Amino acid sequence: MAKQKTSFFCQECGVESPKWVGQCSSCKKWNTLVEEIVVKDKKNQNTWVESGDNRSNSKKLSEIQDENLARIPMPGKELNRVLGNGLVRGSVSLIAGEPGIGKSTLFLQVALRLQNTKVLYISGEESLEQIKLRAERIGSRNENLYLLAESDTQKIFNEIKKVKPELVIVDSVQTLNTPFVESAPGSVSQVRESAAEFIRFAKATQTPVFIIGHINKDGNIAGPKVLEHMVDTVLQFEGDRHYTYRILRAIKNRFGNASELGIYEMGETGLREIHNPSEILISQRDEVLSGTAIAATMEGARPLLIEVQALVTQAVYGTPQRTVTGFDMRRLQLLLAVLEKRGGFQLGVKDVFLNIAGGLKVEDPAIDLAVLSAILSSYEDMPVKTDYCFVGEVGLSGEIRAVNRIEQRIKEAEKLGFERIFISKYNKSAYLKADHIEIVQLGKVDELYNALF
Ligand code: TYD
Ligand code: MG
Repeated sequence: MAKQKTSFFCQECGVESPKWVGQCSSCKKWNTLVEEIVVKDKKNQNTWVESGDNRSNSKKLSEIQDENLARIPMPGKELNRVLGNGLVRGSVSLIAGEPGIGKSTLFLQVALRLQNTKVLYISGEESLEQIKLRAERIGSRNENLYLLAESDTQKIFNEIKKVKPELVIVDSVQTLNTPFVESAPGSVSQVRESAAEFIRFAKATQTPVFIIGHINKDGNIAGPKVLEHMVDTVLQFEGDRHYTYRILRAIKNRFGNASELGIYEMGETGLREIHNPSEILISQRDEVLSGTAIAATMEGARPLLIEVQALVTQAVYGTPQRTVTGFDMRRLQLLLAVLEKRGGFQLGVKDVFLNIAGGLKVEDPAIDLAVLSAILSSYEDMPVKTDYCFVGEVGLSGEIRAVNRIEQRIKEAEKLGFERIFISKYNKSAYLKADHIEIVQLGKVDELYNALF
């Protein structure tokens, strides 16, 4: 018998190496290389490889059909927006998320609510009975939904040939098993080869495919990271399991804006879309408390008002603690240093805790000003007025910098009934018009203190 060809694959980033090494040459992680058997026989493969014909395949730009015509509207505004206005025919989307976050729920829901579309939902994780239970919980019904509990890709393709679905959902890529690769399901070469078979199928038949993949805690698509560049769209489903909010974020989209996101709430009967997130993310309070400030951020193309909470206390141990949830730790340290140096606040001897309400993770630098306000408010134990709202990035020399899409942010704050919004003085004033909200422009961090209290 001929010797089987094997190779070593990094389980983190998928890099292939002919021999074992302790550290991956690409992602620099240790002990991630695993020996896997490489594809043995590709000849009889039951996938969609187009046969060559004599037609020319190149087209003039003007001859190409408008992509929008080929989009399938999805049930739910949020998903449609994240995908870039509907699902493109023949596209392959990877949905990545931690186990238990709600990926299966979301896509079973999509399958159930897509009326008049023949959907095949393939699960390698749950039995048909389990899926039925879940479907009953969600409560919608689609007579055109076919369920299949199978993980062997060739059997799946045979079934697809019989059912001829208009949309395929694969849950999850880690359970898929192609007979042309010998390593175990979930290993890099299995995941890559199985996904590649579905991609060939999608492109050849113009059937859109959703592939669900589990990721690990760090947010890396471990194993499936290798899929990111193969698929057309990568959607990340994230959220804190202790909260009910879930965010569906496009991190790559060949057919739309890659910074779009949709917000959902996990409830008794599945996921509910949230169309006006600002109203929910700002906690309703009767009392005015110190240490909170509202930031007008942008998530994708949508303005979003969120609450920043800070707690500044006397450090009890030698080294003061800094703890953040939903915000970048290094950014907090930088902002504290700016307050210390430019504002003269003694934060070096204080513990600082920072929290973004609702379990959201925010990367928009425009939140800086609200973070500073929350910290100052807790430091002085003086509340910020509840009808104040903040937007501005803070620079190292204490200057408050202009941010993008300022008009949209102001409009959102105005819509939600805020009376005063603090922004950078460097945001061009010509565009700033508002009837029901007062705009206060600040140049430096020290002006913030006087404006607040
Ligand atoms: P699931 O979709 O199985 O997660 P994933 O596929 O990403 O691993 O979701 C699991 C969680 O969702 C589980 O803890 C139960 C919860 N859930 C609800 O709260 N309400 C519901 O209606 C459903 C179907 C699930
Ligand atoms: Mg699942």
